[in-house]
Amino acid sequence: MPRLLNLLVLVSLFGAILACALPARDLYAADVGQLSNPPNPEQSAEFFEKQVRPILVARCYECHGPEISNAKGGLRIDSRAALLKGGDTGAAIVPGNAKKSLLVDAINYGDTYQMPPKRRLSVEEVAVLTRWVEQGAFWPERSVRVGAARYWPLV
Ligand code: HEC
Repeated sequence: MPRLLNLLVLVSLFGAILACALPARDLYAADVGQLSNPPNPEQSAEFFEKQVRPILVARCYECHGPEISNAKGGLRIDSRAALLKGGDTGAAIVPGNAKKSLLVDAINYGDTYQMPPKRRLSVEEVAVLTRWVEQGAFWPERSVRVGAARYWPLV
């Protein structure tokens, strides 16, 4: 009987370890943009509105936003089309290829540009934008309702 008890303890321990390890692995995969199942449009929209757009608005719009008549570097960062067209240097993003994207290079303080110039994005913010580009740089046609709140006015 004690053996059976031991076995039970072992099995539940193993289960607990698995339960802890699995979400951590998922998170890691998400961070480096290696999800085996690409997100569906609804998830992409939610990811964009909750995580991507707030970073762009807070950290890039000051110089590349819609209110700026003479966007810095000729680059507007307020639509997917503007990013594909790019600025003086050419396309700012190559959807699906973060390594070839000028924007990703710039937020990593690469050789050509260091953006935002004054204060670097956090590691988490860089990871969010990198994953967004890596997954195709989804940009909803219209701003979408995420959860109960409406995030941004129509753009
Ligand atoms: C304080 C102003 C400012 C902020 C904020 C800023 N930028 Fe810039 N950005 C510039 C200037 C100025 C240039 C042009 C640099 C040059 O030509 O040497 C530029 C150029 C760029 C370019 C190159 C455009 C091209 O084609 O030449 C990219 C990409 C870029 N910025 C991305 C970003 C991103 C992404 C953010 C937000 C995370 C950001 N920038 C925030 C001022 C800013």
